Amino acid sequence: MIDTVVLHYSESGQGTPVILLHGFPFCGGIWHKQQERLSDLYRIIAPDLRGHGQSPAPAGVYDMQTLARDVLALLDSLQIEKAVLLGHSMGGYVALAAWKLAPARFLALGLIDSQAAPDTEEARSGRVKMAEKVAKEGSQAVATAMLPRLFAPALSTGDPIVEQVRQMILKTPGAAIISSLNGMAARPDSSAMLRTINVPMLILTGDKDQIIATATAEAMAARLPKATLAVIENAGHMPMLERPEATTTAIRKFLSDVGE
Ligand code: MLT
Repeated sequence: MIDTVVLHYSESGQGTPVILLHGFPFCGGIWHKQQERLSDLYRIIAPDLRGHGQSPAPAGVYDMQTLARDVLALLDSLQIEKAVLLGHSMGGYVALAAWKLAPARFLALGLIDSQAAPDTEEARSGRVKMAEKVAKEGSQAVATAMLPRLFAPALSTGDPIVEQVRQMILKTPGAAIISSLNGMAARPDSSAMLRTINVPMLILTGDKDQIIATATAEAMAARLPKATLAVIENAGHMPMLERPEATTTAIRKFLSDVGE
């Protein structure tokens, strides 16, 4: 039996289902503004991945396939046969794993400040060190390490967005953070698989992303002539929070251009 968990999710609107997956270690709430605006035309579903937000946090490695199976189980439980799947950062890794498992379930895909490449050796050893730190110090260690790099430099440290994201990180249990770090470190190289994606693909990034370089998104889009590239100006790794209107507009344009 496949071990899936029942994910907590927020849902609004009617129409083509659009699933918005958050990155690490956040929750579906990062999409609040997009959900509010896009639910005039679409059925927007923003789950909390296992270990995040209000979803259960079982023990074990959260490999991307496991996280993707939870999302597919959510689609089943909502009787959604086909959906658009957009994933932010780790959520993008999950979107690629979901495509690999069940390509027929997706009308379009999106990678938001994400990538198809696996971790470099350096990134992997960084994750091991971070997991050790989280085991000793808790989620605070990730907040301290990530917050200074998550946003475009122009955003002031006192901005309410920074506090909102800090709280999301602190609410994520340390054990779940370690499970996700181990899962991301083990993710496969999906670069070759990109070419098998025969549905419309959105590649969206902030132009000042310090976690996954903007050039990575541009290079993926250049290799995939049918992909839509959207670069959000003056945004870092969190364009949905830093430039919510521009991000919503880019997603809406993509959905409308691809006929959804
Ligand atoms: C994320 O935002 O999901 C993570 O930064 C992705 C990663 O660490 O590779």
